[in-house]
Amino acid sequence: MNLTYYGHACFGVETKGVHLLFDPFITGNELASQIDVDAIPADYILLTHGHQDHVLDAERIARRTGAKIVSNFEIVSWYGAKGIEGHPMNHGGKWQFDFGTVKYVSAIHSSVLPDGTYGGNPGGFVVWNEEGCFYHAGDTALTMDMQLVPKTCPKLDFCMLPIGDNFTMGTEEAVLAAGFVQCEKVIACHFDTFGYIRVDHEEVKKAFSDAGKSVILPEIGEVITFE
Ligand code: NI
Ligand code: MN
Repeated sequence: MNLTYYGHACFGVETKGVHLLFDPFITGNELASQIDVDAIPADYILLTHGHQDHVLDAERIARRTGAKIVSNFEIVSWYGAKGIEGHPMNHGGKWQFDFGTVKYVSAIHSSVLPDGTYGGNPGGFVVWNEEGCFYHAGDTALTMDMQLVPKTCPKLDFCMLPIGDNFTMGTEEAVLAAGFVQCEKVIACHFDTFGYIRVDHEEVKKAFSDAGKSVILPEIGEVITFE
């Protein structure tokens, strides 16, 4: 699996020749100005919740690529009304796609779409196939439900956790979350994009290493390969 970080909570994951894109927020992110939103590949766009900083560029990318939206029922219905196809899910449910299995799991947060439409309950995703298994937590507080992930999914090879605090859990909780989901390779997200969520990178790395874990704070545009 190849992972590309596009900033904030947006990741591309290429697996079995299929491009999954999570929470595209590029054109609104000053830090991601070097990323060409019209060059990002996508076969599926997975949206954790309806907030602008997670869905801003989903419509634009879906119209160009024909990618399907995968999210909760409310968000998929909202895109459906715009003529964009999708696959609706809800918490605790999983579905076998052509690239592998997707499970929509709990997150503690809120979810409203950019025009004020109710965006259902926010979630995270666990995705797995023969190449590996990973968890994108979305925007969330630390929650005991994370302990269910390793009980209901294959062993995680990596996970994306928000660390920016204020709107989501912060670093200390992300360290605990990595333990709850039993994952050794943490890729941090939802940090530095705006003032409320700026973090000291060295402090974040120290908090993880003090707990015997490692964390990657990816550069925007960075590609990470998982064997
Ligand atoms: Ni949010
Ligand atoms: Mn957010």
